[in-house]
Amino acid sequence: MTGAASTLEGMEERAAFVRAHTALEPVPMVDGIRLYTASEVVPIWHATEDWLSERGLGVPFWCVPWAGGQALARFVLEHPEIVRGRRVLDFGAGSGLIAIAAAKAGAAGVRAVDVDPLAVAACALNAAANDVVVEVACEDIVDGDPKADVVLAGDVWYELAASARFARWLHAVSQRGARVLTGDPGRRYVPSHARELAVYDVPTSIELESTRSRRSRVLEILPLPPRDAAE
Ligand SMILES: C[S@@+](CC[C@H](N)C(=O)[O-])C[C@H]1O[C@@H](n2cnc3c(N)ncnc32)[C@H](O)[C@@H]1O
Repeated sequence: MTGAASTLEGMEERAAFVRAHTALEPVPMVDGIRLYTASEVVPIWHATEDWLSERGLGVPFWCVPWAGGQALARFVLEHPEIVRGRRVLDFGAGSGLIAIAAAKAGAAGVRAVDVDPLAVAACALNAAANDVVVEVACEDIVDGDPKADVVLAGDVWYELAASARFARWLHAVSQRGARVLTGDPGRRYVPSHARELAVYDVPTSIELESTRSRRSRVLEILPLPPRDAAE
């Protein structure tokens, strides 16, 4: 399938899948935002695997808010001046939680980007459910121009190779003058060249995180010193 019509068709099919496997629920620690959320993750994981095997898509990261995303969304709502009047990119958006927080906080424009087509459908549904406008895109924009004044990345530091790519790119984006913030609950590959802005104890599900709370930091990713940037 090619062209705009097929894209729309795909979006409708994906939106139906998201709606069928989730319910609109409040987000712990992020007042005023509701997301299409899977109450039990295991069944949707299996359902998505079947859907996947037919279409070749990824695991359903979009069906829950992740601890790093909750921390960053909360921070954005508590500090609206960071995004107010600015163009914001939610990178690795998943459910779109952070994009929605940025829109509510008064961003001039918000784009949510993810490589998972189901995530993009979830972002669109979640934005509509929260009465905010978020542009969505399914693409890998790493190494490209983020076209944003502020880049927000929630909970994306869990895979070695991907994290190395993201870090190289986001340090460079910061070097070029955009603010780059991430929310991280202690994932293994979070960049070290960053400044801590806030810490929250984020309520989590035992099913996902094996604990009821994860201490999560909001970090500002900084430009690398010239010697490290050249490597
Ligand atoms: C753990 S989820 C976090 C979702 C959301 N930010 C949150 O905190 O709830 C990580 C997300 O990053 C997305 N992702 C992975 N590689 C990506 C890439 N190269 N570009 C954009 N998104 C990517 C995944 O599809 C997934 O939705």
